[in-house]
Amino acid sequence: MATGIQDVRAETGSHSIGFRSVAREFREPVGLPVEGRIPAWLTGSVVRSGPASFEPGGRSLRHWFDGLALLDRFAVQEGRVTYASRMLESDAYRAASEKGEISYQEFATDPCRSLFKRFVSAFSPRPTDNANVNVAPDGHNWVAMTETPLQAEFDPRTLETVGVREYDDGLKVHHASAHPHHDTGRRELLSYAIAYGPRSCYQLFRLPDGGRRRERYAQASVREPCYMHSFALTERYAVLTDQPFTVNPLGLLLSGRPFIENFRWHGDRATRFMVFDRAGGRHVGTDETEPFFTFHHVNAFERRGEVVLDICAYDDAGIIDALYLERLRAGERPPTARVRRYRLDLPARTVRQEVEFEPAFELPRIDYRRRNGRDYRFVWGASNRSPESDWFDQIAKLDTTTGDVVAWYEEGCHPGEPVLVREPGTDAGAEDAGVILSVVLDARRAGSFLVVLDARTMEELARAEAPVRLPPGFHAQFGRDLV
Ligand code: CO
Repeated sequence: MATGIQDVRAETGSHSIGFRSVAREFREPVGLPVEGRIPAWLTGSVVRSGPASFEPGGRSLRHWFDGLALLDRFAVQEGRVTYASRMLESDAYRAASEKGEISYQEFATDPCRSLFKRFVSAFSPRPTDNANVNVAPDGHNWVAMTETPLQAEFDPRTLETVGVREYDDGLKVHHASAHPHHDTGRRELLSYAIAYGPRSCYQLFRLPDGGRRRERYAQASVREPCYMHSFALTERYAVLTDQPFTVNPLGLLLSGRPFIENFRWHGDRATRFMVFDRAGGRHVGTDETEPFFTFHHVNAFERRGEVVLDICAYDDAGIIDALYLERLRAGERPPTARVRRYRLDLPARTVRQEVEFEPAFELPRIDYRRRNGRDYRFVWGASNRSPESDWFDQIAKLDTTTGDVVAWYEEGCHPGEPVLVREPGTDAGAEDAGVILSVVLDARRAGSFLVVLDARTMEELARAEAPVRLPPGFHAQFGRDLV
């Protein structure tokens, strides 16, 4: 067991037991008991990075998003499953485990430092390299990402940390995305970065596969940049959702408050969709609608001169405050998001909300490789069975053409993000020919398991019991070549 991780005895029965540090690492893969039958064609690994250590060096981190990252992997082959995990050995982790210090600026926790040090470091804040949000395959090594410029390379087989990913360009990045898109046809990654300054700048860039030089193809200056977590692509356009949860960049430097506490919600301002041409970088237009808050875009596509954009929308930014660990551990019920469909008429410069789907829905996943940026039908997400649900308690499959929902749930169980794995060789039109994989917290037994569902029917095919209780995670990716 590594230092920096400590187990906290937690009560069973509530989802709030999830927000305690993981008890230990499993550096060597261990075989898991499997119940049910995993399809023989399913081969590969679910790889995640997520917050899993909340009391490093004896000091409590404050927010779910602050937790030190644990990399983990469920490997599936011939119906068998193994599990392995390892703390991401970031500088933030090393400082916490070796010196017992929080030395970097996390999402909502600042380093311990004297007034003098605070003054000096205000002008050179050390962004964290605690990449606990998402992972992406990138050749032999993968990258773990958070929202600072620092991404961590790791070996997806051993889960060993390789180091910070270096880029060979001068792109100015203060806030980055952990949700890049990948265009398989053009063999490039597309993402955005925000540079803070007297005039801040939203920048869109592309990075050829295997490359280290990001090419900025569009930018827009903005006085008060917003907190932005993801964006949308269609075949021709990139869409940034500029929401009224904004920061005065000078305040970021001088306030002495943790990063996210410098942002303010402006309920009297619009949420704006900023549309850019992917080919030439032209800012096609900005269209306004009523204020809402979002982390995750579901998908977007072009239809008869319009951009259709599906997004998980909250009424306001209250979800950020609701995810402080103190509130989660007290069992408070956070606000929920719904999938909304907006239609952006580009020539007319109008936005129309077409529909808001029930039920509550987050961590959306689609048949990404075939349908991202294109007309599509199904989205899977972590969802709530009823308004009384305290936390995600079902995996829902939403048919965006009818609003129909099929869901898997089990009493006392809290699923994480559902990952779709398509069955090889199946009809390209069938978005749901495959399985859904999700890591589920079982609050009754204070344990966790990987569940395998038939993506068509949402019926359970199998589950594999993890050797330890795992905190709820954010995002997972499936590597077909990783066994
Ligand atoms: Co996310």
